[in-house]
Amino acid sequence: MIEKYSFEFEVYNSADELQPNDKNLLQLAKDLAPTAYAPYSKFHVAAAAILQNGEIVKGTNQENASYPVGTCAERSLLGTVGALFPNEPIVTMAITYDNLNGTSDTPASPCGMCRQALREYETRTHQSIRLILAGKEGKVYIIPKAGMLLPLGFTSDDLK
Ligand code: THU
Repeated sequence: MIEKYSFEFEVYNSADELQPNDKNLLQLAKDLAPTAYAPYSKFHVAAAAILQNGEIVKGTNQENASYPVGTCAERSLLGTVGALFPNEPIVTMAITYDNLNGTSDTPASPCGMCRQALREYETRTHQSIRLILAGKEGKVYIIPKAGMLLPLGFTSDDLK
């Protein structure tokens, strides 16, 4: 037997094609990217999210001279939400980056660890997190549910 996994997502040619709310959230993240602490990789990542209660929370990557200590923008955002608005659902999160060493024109791709963290936040709050993924310019992807990026993921069910 073969099982197949697939998912659908929206593709836009540029941020100008987005709905105003989405465009604004992405712009907040883009404005934040220069403040990321990424002196080692020079890869500045920023995320901005709107919560169900209307609050906006942001995060950037926070690197460290001891490289593995660094935290991605998405997980720094999730940590802030968890501390300030525990269990508040996240409706939409925009993620972008500015690669000072190269190009920034393809949509951001959350790393595996962040996919795991996003997925658990969805489970915890019983609500999908819609992702807007973009570079500084170029195409924008909208993923309806972060967990779609982590098929066959490890969850608390596996610990039973
Ligand atoms: N990074 C993020 O902040 N988010 C991602 O989803 C991918 C990678 C950061 C980690 C590191 O500080 C830099 O980007 C280069 O990997």
